[in-house]
Amino acid sequence: MSEFRRLPPISRRALLSGAAGVATLAVASPFRAPAIAQHAPLRVGLMLPYTGTFAKLGKFIDDGFRLRIEQNGGKLGGREVEFVQVDDESKPAAATDNMNRLVGRDKVDVVVGTVHSGVAMAMVKVARDTNTLLIIPNAGANDATGPACAPNIFRTSFSNWQTTYPMGKVMAAAGIKNVVTITWKYTAGAEMIGAFAESFTANGGKIVEDLTLPFPEVEFQALITRIAQLKPDAVFSFFAGGGAVKFVKDYAEAGLNKTIPLYGAGFLTDGTLEAQGAAADGIKTTLHYADNLLNPANVAFLKAFKAKTGNDGDIYAVQGFDAAALLNIGLTAVKGDTHARDRMVAAMAAAKIDSPRGPLSFNKAHNPIQNIYLREVKNGRNEMLSIAQADVDDPARGCKMT
Ligand code: BEZ
Repeated sequence: MSEFRRLPPISRRALLSGAAGVATLAVASPFRAPAIAQHAPLRVGLMLPYTGTFAKLGKFIDDGFRLRIEQNGGKLGGREVEFVQVDDESKPAAATDNMNRLVGRDKVDVVVGTVHSGVAMAMVKVARDTNTLLIIPNAGANDATGPACAPNIFRTSFSNWQTTYPMGKVMAAAGIKNVVTITWKYTAGAEMIGAFAESFTANGGKIVEDLTLPFPEVEFQALITRIAQLKPDAVFSFFAGGGAVKFVKDYAEAGLNKTIPLYGAGFLTDGTLEAQGAAADGIKTTLHYADNLLNPANVAFLKAFKAKTGNDGDIYAVQGFDAAALLNIGLTAVKGDTHARDRMVAAMAAAKIDSPRGPLSFNKAHNPIQNIYLREVKNGRNEMLSIAQADVDDPARGCKMT
């Protein structure tokens, strides 16, 4: 069963009465609803962007998640699965109400979401307050597995720090001395650029200027003109989805791809290459995935994803696929009984997943430990050049697991 809707706005008055009162009760109480029959379908809340600049990312996470369940006979931990879908539109302002509804009114057993770091942090707060199991299949906000870490919160993607820290050393080793950075002005942009700058400057590099524009704006012209004036050795960037497509094309149209090499977090070219075309050729990025990983898990995943959706899999699909794999490990350990939470969490924390991205395990904050690959766009693919850093483990600064 699948329900899909963009939820109507909820007033404070409604929250405190009627059906929405259930949400308030669930938020206020540290205890979950009475035991549901173990064989009732598992209710999964999918809170993802299905519209806006990250729409394709949300769709691929959703497709990857469902693919893994299909491969498991339509079940997780022996239970049938039913979905409640919410389009979060990548809007942090609506995130708390959306999450409260999934938990309180829709009474989901677990929430899987989301893409945008700002939306994810609002979800993390509700998950902590209500002790709801939350699996983050993309958003990299460092705090989710840092100061806000909790036993009931897992991430199958990355921390923002993790994807770009290795690139600072790589670029410095390539003889690049002066870099201009460019990104959207929000948590993910600031943290990815910050981690890159941390390692680049530690290896002798200099950041000439940090350029930003508000999320999800795509008017890049003035900033591209500024890059041309500054003439750095290279540009380092974070954009994703529709914004990444437009940035890469605008950069090439201005002719800068011929004179100032463009680098970035791998989101700049993942799931975007078909739309970017030749404009993306030669861009180097770091990410926990590459299109030409030949491990059997990736070969099988790409084949199955193509057969199910008609699309080539990307990192977002992998992260959704692994979210279902992780949930299945937890639920199988407790024979589908979500109320055996401690044992379920222990099994998930100890999971070792043979992921399409390569070996995947989790640190004490429930963030992935994984390889970060250096990739280059060649022939419309993100081809791995080398492992930029093996088994990268986020420092989980400020995480105190209770
Ligand atoms: C984020 O907001 O955390 C994010 C969004 C898209 C790609 C990667 C990270």
